[in-house]
Amino acid sequence: MPIPLLDLKRQYEHMRDDMEKVLQEVAASQYFILGPEVEQFEKESATWLKVDHAVGVASGTDALLVALMALNIGPGDEVILPTFSFFATAGVVARLGATPVFVDIDPVDFNMDPEAIRDRLSDRTKAIIPVHLFGQSADLAAIREASGEVPIIEDCAQAWGADFEGTSVGGHGVMGAFSFFPSKNLGGFGDGGLVTTNDAELAATLRELRVHGQSGPYLHPTVGGNFRLDAIQAAVLRVKLPHVQGWIQGRRANSMRYVDLFTQAGLHEILGLPVALSGHGHTFNQFVIRAPRRDELRKYLSDREIGCAVYYPLSLHLQPCFNGLGYSEGDCPVAEQASREVLALPVFPELTQEEIEEVVGAIAEFYKD
Ligand SMILES: Cc1ncc(COP(=O)(O)O)c(C=O)c1O
Repeated sequence: MPIPLLDLKRQYEHMRDDMEKVLQEVAASQYFILGPEVEQFEKESATWLKVDHAVGVASGTDALLVALMALNIGPGDEVILPTFSFFATAGVVARLGATPVFVDIDPVDFNMDPEAIRDRLSDRTKAIIPVHLFGQSADLAAIREASGEVPIIEDCAQAWGADFEGTSVGGHGVMGAFSFFPSKNLGGFGDGGLVTTNDAELAATLRELRVHGQSGPYLHPTVGGNFRLDAIQAAVLRVKLPHVQGWIQGRRANSMRYVDLFTQAGLHEILGLPVALSGHGHTFNQFVIRAPRRDELRKYLSDREIGCAVYYPLSLHLQPCFNGLGYSEGDCPVAEQASREVLALPVFPELTQEEIEEVVGAIAEFYKD
């Protein structure tokens, strides 16, 4: 039987009735954009994340973009971010005319290396964006120390439910940006996002910016955009929210099972297994190994219909669109090596024990000689 990297149909089976009910309610209300569903979802997610304010937006990308806009970031400004991330983390900086400044990552957790920040700080640095990659919190204490007074915007897109030393991600920096892309720990039926903050003034600014910078009917003190969250996404996310902690436990249990089985098979000597650092609340949005002969292994698994993926094959500092920034190969060696070695395996909560055994068995077979 094929083993998909992610199978959302299994999740949907458990909530079909509840979901159909709320979808019908939204249809009956004909209230599609922002409105009561979004307001309720914002309240519930702020409570869930233990933050003061949560502002629903149209995607994780828009969450990052509007957070930078709220800090007035633009041409001439620099924003420091890890080079090993999804493109959006850097794309939003460039879209505002600011300069992304890429730093290398830590080889253990794949997150931004806090020490690398110090070398890249300048009087033009206007924000730092740590990414909680694969669902594990970056070292926010060390990042805070290295960053001085520079505002931190957390990219929490992959890390709903992760915490750093007991405080939810998204509650450490001036703002946190979440994504509800369907594959995330909490995923919608399409695009969606959220900005969190404990600053009431910033929350008000974000609310204006998401409706074209409108402060009152057809009055625009600033230029914002259309970053609004749809009612239908909010309704879907409200159905899922009470389940998300259980799903995260399922991801953690599956990850532990993988580690046990790989270790029993002696594969821990060959593979780099993910490390859940104490106090970093890993949620395993992705279970990512380092594998010798990675591309061969990837093909081997794909031929056997075992889902796997490479996040990310090319670091951001080497992306063609950033050629003009003057980076070259060798500038961020830890990230570049990760790009050659990483492979994400299926870890979704509904994965069965037999499927995990099959994945491990196939990998053991691949390395047997
Ligand atoms: C680290 C990271 N940042 C930002 C985003 C952007 O989120 P979205 O796809 O919801 O725009 C993603 C989504 O894949 C992500 O993984």
